[in-house]
Amino acid sequence: MSGEDGGRAAIDFSEPHLARVYDYLLGGKDNFAADREVGDRIIASLPAIRAGVLAQRAVLRRVVRFLVGECGIRQLLDIGAGLPTAENVHQIARRIDPATRVVYVDNDPIVLTHARALLAGDDATTVAGGDLRRPASILANPAVRAHLDWSRPVGLLLCGILHHILDEERPAELTAELVAALPPGSHVFIHHLLDSGDPAVAQVQEAMRASLGRGTFRTREQVLGLFTGLELVDPGLVLVPDWRPDRDTPRASSNPVLRLACAGVGRKP
Ligand SMILES: C[S@@+](CC[C@H](N)C(=O)[O-])C[C@H]1O[C@@H](n2cnc3c(N)ncnc32)[C@H](O)[C@@H]1O
Repeated sequence: MSGEDGGRAAIDFSEPHLARVYDYLLGGKDNFAADREVGDRIIASLPAIRAGVLAQRAVLRRVVRFLVGECGIRQLLDIGAGLPTAENVHQIARRIDPATRVVYVDNDPIVLTHARALLAGDDATTVAGGDLRRPASILANPAVRAHLDWSRPVGLLLCGILHHILDEERPAELTAELVAALPPGSHVFIHHLLDSGDPAVAQVQEAMRASLGRGTFRTREQVLGLFTGLELVDPGLVLVPDWRPDRDTPRASSNPVLRLACAGVGRKP
């Protein structure tokens, strides 16, 4: 591994990794026994979890369509991109404008390896190792700097990652540091696990913390605090299914798991 670029790190299959646990919950094949064990513990405390992760992927697709199709954004910085799956960010964006440039950032070497294999020969999309807990190093990464035009608005995607940042790692300061570097007119998307007071929250949080060492459900007020310096666009910070739903988006009332995460997009004035 060289510096922030985790793509050449030794890969440990005996320890669970968040990206692979998420892949397992999504029904993917890029996971190992240790990841499936954690996934099964989470499923035991929240059997309907799969509906939640599918809703997460669906809102990500809706947000990308909104940013590229309605806000005119043509460059996306996806931090905590995850393992490639069906309908990745660059594929959704490209259907609207093939010239859209995308940078995927993740701190998991397996994610970087898979993403690089998928994207070999794709000049409009690049993959960079980086850690959200060190925004300055992401912003200074030559691959990130060179791939995006920092005089034009950027769509920053923080989907399903900030709840893996502990309170003591100061998530609001991390987002503020990234926002400060973005040109005016940039948009920031946050998907975050929501502490709604549901008894399932404590159990799932405990399962995540015990196995992955992290995982924090936050209240709506706490998540709003991550949008400091941004103007929330309609419909604001809402339950995931309520963020600009498609006709076939399952309603939040149809499944309690769909009330355990919120989503919002903020615009930098
Ligand atoms: C739950 S997955 C979400 C994937 C995708 N964004 C989505 O919503 O479908 C979270 C991803 O964030 C990555 N991640 C977690 N903490 C990170 C950090 N501090 N810096 C960079 N990536 C991180 C994990 O490796 C994983 O791939």
